[in-house]
Amino acid sequence: MTAHTLDELLADGVRGRHVLVRSDLNVPLDGSTVTDDGRVRASLPVISKLAEAGARVIVMAHLGRPKGMPEEKYSLRPAVDRLAELASFPVRLADDVVGPSARELSAELGDGEVLVLENVRFDARETSKIDAEREDLARELAALTGADDAPRGAYVDDAFGAVHRKHASVYDIASILPSYLGELVRAEVEVLKRLTEGAERPYVVVLGGSKVSDKLAVIDNLIGKADRLLVGGGMLFTFLAAQGHKVGSSLLERDQIPTVQAYLERATAAGTEFVLPTDVVVASKFAADAEHEVASADAIEETGFGEAGIGLDIGPDTAAAFAKEIAGAKTVFWNGPMGVFEFPAFAAGTKAVAQALADATAAGALTVVGGGDSAAAVRTLGFADSQFGHISTGGGASLEYLEGKELPGLTALGA
Ligand code: 3PG
Repeated sequence: MTAHTLDELLADGVRGRHVLVRSDLNVPLDGSTVTDDGRVRASLPVISKLAEAGARVIVMAHLGRPKGMPEEKYSLRPAVDRLAELASFPVRLADDVVGPSARELSAELGDGEVLVLENVRFDARETSKIDAEREDLARELAALTGADDAPRGAYVDDAFGAVHRKHASVYDIASILPSYLGELVRAEVEVLKRLTEGAERPYVVVLGGSKVSDKLAVIDNLIGKADRLLVGGGMLFTFLAAQGHKVGSSLLERDQIPTVQAYLERATAAGTEFVLPTDVVVASKFAADAEHEVASADAIEETGFGEAGIGLDIGPDTAAAFAKEIAGAKTVFWNGPMGVFEFPAFAAGTKAVAQALADATAAGALTVVGGGDSAAAVRTLGFADSQFGHISTGGGASLEYLEGKELPGLTALGA
């Protein structure tokens, strides 16, 4: 089965029809300020197309991980305000998910108007492991398209960032309403396919971020597929420990050391080379204004901070070595910052990798930045989206795609 596309839905005609759209509006916030509106901007085209074609659009989205009940700090209000600023059509936010406010506002929607439901995770059934509970919520969501009118309702999945979640608004709803693949999801999958099916070589993957345990499955799957795996971020210390180095007070997942050792041994025979840091920036403490020194990767405890030293970025030699590897690549996938880029003193490694990707893009390589954190990092550091081949809106979703896992949101649509 192949998934139905948004174009098919538009060709059928949507004027006057209620269309439920699952978007990923899970944006980073500082209080109530959206610090990176990438996901809002990425969600806008599909919502706009439907509204312009006269649909009565109901957007479902989540923000953060509330515990199945309303919590002010997880309200979609800031994301919806940003959407309303960017949009050329009226946008309203319901006070609830499928309660009186959602029902009333859905019924009142006019052609070309957009209603966003409150954080769908405010309803515990959204993420329930019990099929019947999720199906129950999915039926209530579908009912917002109009009970008598239900066959005319439709569902569009445009939330690439959530396709790896077996949730009511992502998975179960697709078996209730006629379902269509949104253009953002289609575009993301098209690019990621190019990484998994015959990527042009050399194929270099840069992995960072804090937890190695989050990346084990993707590393496992990339051994034998990528030519080089460059490792930075907090997870690098588990790799250095696996090589027998002391890492001071740096982030370390001791229980993952044997797994990482096994990867290092397996990689060479499989034709994948791990490129690990040779130097790191070691700080006196985890703080923006911490004193810091560059140390060799095998002498982290030999700085003035001794065993208390904590590695917060890759060092300049490593950044240069990573940039050289990226410059020689035809395909690059990057997930996870190289250091604590939110602190300017520890942003150089992430900046160097971002610059190397931008240069590789200009030289004709396919470069893909995956993950909410990495996407936010490149924008925060002043890079433009156009400097990269593709900036994925999906963090976990893009990793799981590269892991070769089945993604429930795609399966549900037959994609
Ligand atoms: C993301 O931030 O990667 C997506 O919005 C999914 O969020 P989740 O990991 O909380 O499901």
